[in-house]
Amino acid sequence: MNAIIDKIAKELEQAKARNAQEVEELRVRLLGKKGEITKLFEDFRTVSPELKREFGKKLNELKNLATSKIEDLRKSTADSSTDKKGGEDLTMPGDYIELGSRHPISITREQIVSIFAKLGYTVAEGPEIEDDHHVFESLNFPPDHPARDMQDTFFISKGYNPVLLRTHTSSVQVRTMERTKPPIRVVCPGRVFRNEAISARAHCIFHQVEGLYIDKGVSFADLKQSILLFCREMFGPQTKIRMRPSYFPFTEPSTEVDISCNICGGKGCNICKGTGWLEIMGAGMVDPNVLEACGIDPKEYTGFAFGMGVERIAMLKWQVKDLRLYFENDIRFLKEFENSL
Ligand code: PHE
Repeated sequence: MNAIIDKIAKELEQAKARNAQEVEELRVRLLGKKGEITKLFEDFRTVSPELKREFGKKLNELKNLATSKIEDLRKSTADSSTDKKGGEDLTMPGDYIELGSRHPISITREQIVSIFAKLGYTVAEGPEIEDDHHVFESLNFPPDHPARDMQDTFFISKGYNPVLLRTHTSSVQVRTMERTKPPIRVVCPGRVFRNEAISARAHCIFHQVEGLYIDKGVSFADLKQSILLFCREMFGPQTKIRMRPSYFPFTEPSTEVDISCNICGGKGCNICKGTGWLEIMGAGMVDPNVLEACGIDPKEYTGFAFGMGVERIAMLKWQVKDLRLYFENDIRFLKEFENSL
């Protein structure tokens, strides 16, 4: 018994507590119903009468020591943790600051841009509020083309050369051609705007990366090889591509590019709707009319252009089913892409 009393007394001398909870824990452990000191008082009943006097004194001293020590600790922790006197407990652990994560659209855009950077492309940017000339006119859109309709384009002003929100970043390619002499090799990432109802597959704001390569003797074979290389870097070395004939006012010939489905490997699944192929971009040889409108001699130079939606590439890469997720900024969704770059 003596040994236990000495042990507890020694412990009390050195007792420390960082907060009120720890003080309470100490109190319960020593003086609670089943506490160590309480138990000593129970054991005291069995002590022989001649020793009762000595142990009784010791036990009472121990209890007083414990009570006053706990009271002291309670006061000191109350001072520092409730900040009553304006002091702060510098020994408390700091508040946890939640780390943010990169947005999947930013991650995808950077992946696309960095693949083309390896092929010697630089980044060009331009205004989101554009004019008809840069978005449609110089890109060979006929005056009655449906894209020039209010239903597809957000207009800011009407009249001669209307001001509008760009519907594609091809306008940046026009601006680049207007101010630079070939060879030109640029990618144009940016936000674009189309007057569409918002659904799982469409949004009125989305992101594109378009590209342009103009030099002497650039051919369709160069386009095909560049796109194949991009697709293999982006979706894996086993990726195949196919090109379907298409139409854009600013390219001739024009093509729609598909990749072999990266989920089923081309066998057919519900992602590729059983076809084995997924559409990923439009492309083509720059129409001579466009080169001319931008001050480049089409007899001397040829080139190709391509354009893709960043949301779509990200959806295909990570099987995101609903486009709206990109815009809701739900931290649980965004965190899933933390380690993707
Ligand atoms: N500008 C087209 C679009 O917005 C994409 C495209 C770019 C197609 C270049 C062909 C060549 O959809």
